[in-house]
Amino acid sequence: MKTFQEYLDAVNQAIAAIPYPASPDQLYEPIAYHMALGGKRVRPVLTLMACDAMGGDSALAIDAALGLEMFHNFTLLHDDVMDNADVRRGKPTVHCRWNDNTAILSGDTMLTIATQYIARTANWQVMDLFNKTAIEIYEGQQWDMDYENRNDVTVEEYINMIRLKTSVLLGCALKTGALIADADEQQASLIYEAGVNMGLAFQLRDDVLDVWGNPETFGKEIGGDIMNNKKTFLLINTMQLAQGDDADELRHWLNDPYATRDDKVRGVTSLYERLGVRQLAEEAISRYNDQAVAAFNQLKISDDDKAAFIALANRLSGRKY
Ligand code: IPE
Ligand code: IPE
Ligand code: MG
Ligand code: MG
Ligand code: MG
Repeated sequence: MKTFQEYLDAVNQAIAAIPYPASPDQLYEPIAYHMALGGKRVRPVLTLMACDAMGGDSALAIDAALGLEMFHNFTLLHDDVMDNADVRRGKPTVHCRWNDNTAILSGDTMLTIATQYIARTANWQVMDLFNKTAIEIYEGQQWDMDYENRNDVTVEEYINMIRLKTSVLLGCALKTGALIADADEQQASLIYEAGVNMGLAFQLRDDVLDVWGNPETFGKEIGGDIMNNKKTFLLINTMQLAQGDDADELRHWLNDPYATRDDKVRGVTSLYERLGVRQLAEEAISRYNDQAVAAFNQLKISDDDKAAFIALANRLSGRKY
């Protein structure tokens, strides 16, 4: 297997070489803008890593890798409309810089470009997995929206929601590389399971960073989840633990439509801190990361390759950005 940096360079080069038509510029400019903003490029790198680790040639997985990154970016354009988010990767989101209609239509176009890249693999198993995963993500995003308006969401429902909206795409990225390498079904399923557990830890970390991250490195505005009453692991546990005055205060923040951003984010964050829910999140992150590591360790791949996957899982679950 090559180094993470080498895979990242290959992905970034391929992304920079994607040709976009010149017109309509209102359709294609936002796509080029968003794809050039960077981001961690985790999913395409996972595809390339998995392909090489499973005995394939990652050069043959680059189209699939690009398709998955394009797809991921499409979900972000729509997600930022749904979440009312103004900043991503340290820059204005597409719906802010242009408008909602642009985010919808450029996003649609990205989904189709992504599908074209996936189709180029000419591999039905890869196409099936991609389409199944895409629908699961939309389901997860719908649960995420539904839960904004519910106050009885359980931790179990939350875990299922993040499995759908985030984790299955990491599983899909790894399994896609395995399928292109012609891995057997058992190995392909095992690497998928590793990716799903990695993804659960990844989304829990994202939720923690949405509260305590450094906006410079995180690239998003802090407190977006709090403003949207997102039923994150932090909020669900706080709702379950808060008693007396704490419970009253929480009810106030969840229900006051006139609360300013500063006040609400500060108020809810201090409830989180008072009730110690960050520690619960850290424990859950460790548990899912351990399960990812255990699955990577069971793969029939070289020890060096296992170590590379495990190092990446550890880095993503502990990320500060
Ligand atoms: C953002 O994904 C959406 C989540 C699933 C948390 P990333 O954190 O991978 O975003 P980029 O691509 O690196 O910007
Ligand atoms: C994103 O979840 C999941 C998808 C985009 C499918 P979030 O809404 O938490 O992602 P960020 O925080 O905006 O990146
Ligand atoms: Mg969002
Ligand atoms: Mg969202
Ligand atoms: Mg988030």
